[in-house]
Amino acid sequence: MTRILLIVGGGIAAYKAAELIRLLKTRGHAVRCVMTESAHHFVTPMTLAALSEDKVYTTLWDLKDEAEMGHIQLSRQADLIVVAPATADLMARMVAGLANDLATTLLLATDKPVLVAPAMNVRMWSHAATVRNVAQLRADGVTVMQPDEGMMACGEYGPGRLPEPPAIVAAIDAMLAPTPPKRLAGRHVLVTAGPTHEPIDPVRYIANRSSGKQGFAIAAALARLGARVTLVAGPVTLPTPPAVDRIDVETAREMAAAVDHALPADAAVMVAAVADWHVESVPQKIKKGEATPTLMLAENPDILATLARSPHRPRLLIGFAAETERVIEHAVAKRVRKTADWIVANDVSGDVMGGADNSVHLITEAGVESWERLPKDAVATRLAERIADALEAAP
Ligand code: C5P
Repeated sequence: MTRILLIVGGGIAAYKAAELIRLLKTRGHAVRCVMTESAHHFVTPMTLAALSEDKVYTTLWDLKDEAEMGHIQLSRQADLIVVAPATADLMARMVAGLANDLATTLLLATDKPVLVAPAMNVRMWSHAATVRNVAQLRADGVTVMQPDEGMMACGEYGPGRLPEPPAIVAAIDAMLAPTPPKRLAGRHVLVTAGPTHEPIDPVRYIANRSSGKQGFAIAAALARLGARVTLVAGPVTLPTPPAVDRIDVETAREMAAAVDHALPADAAVMVAAVADWHVESVPQKIKKGEATPTLMLAENPDILATLARSPHRPRLLIGFAAETERVIEHAVAKRVRKTADWIVANDVSGDVMGGADNSVHLITEAGVESWERLPKDAVATRLAERIADALEAAP
């Protein structure tokens, strides 16, 4: 039996906490509820107590409970803490490390995994402060769900609705799933990710579009399987995944040098969108009023192709191919041309760049496998498992 501590924040969606408790109870979990002061305006403690079949905790100043168990124990006795709905205010207080009510005190005192299911007005969700807070919570190791998109109680439309209770239950299940066996323990895997920036002058550059999300997700998935991961990252603002060694570079030539320096590796996954050319850059900013400059482009090293020919070639060399048309045909040709073992081809004609999902084809010597559209994390997990299969098959 899993013990879940459910913190209910103050928002219209608080009524959905009742359904969430019911679902969790039918799955055999024990649920104990904590409400913030403002949650009382939206749902009663009586409802949550009846559904959870337990006392509902609301205040730090309940001295009897402090004597009996204390707020530290209340958070430590749980296997998982779920905040649903999490308001913008509650998330901001978590980020700041405040402990000015029972909910935030528990969240600060806990050593257990925390899942946050946000719900708020669309403008509050997209406000720079909330965007910054969500990124910080994720960097702090908190799992923050993406809110649903739709009609809001306030009449506006957009992302900000509390994820439906079954989706929250699925996220809880994923967090409680046993950690996968460390199939890549003792292996070194090299990953490149993000774009490269090729300076034109001190303030301008040319680059390829790339958020780095897929490459970072792959590095994270490989590390979860126990690999020692070296992630050579172009300029991106993503947090470093846990247990990953990150080397930040700016240009393709720096990336090539960092990759070379990180060898030997058992496998390499080259996800970076490397700029194909660099410019002979000048040390001073080019002035606009003067003659329009002509850029003299020189070819960058092809890191993947160079690695394929290197005496230190990793046993499994995987390239990526971003294509906008005839995706499979181009990728099959690229595998042969670059002498990579596998090519992961993605169709970037839609909203893949910077988006949360990816739709890929895995091209190997044996043929083409088309995967269903998946979140980038799921693509990464599946690819990491396949890498483990391949290294185990030919040790
Ligand atoms: O030739 P194209 O850029 O389409 O090939 C994509 C694959 O090659 C990706 O795996 C990318 O990381 C890698 N690549 C590279 N160095 C370059 C260009 C691409 O490693 N200069």
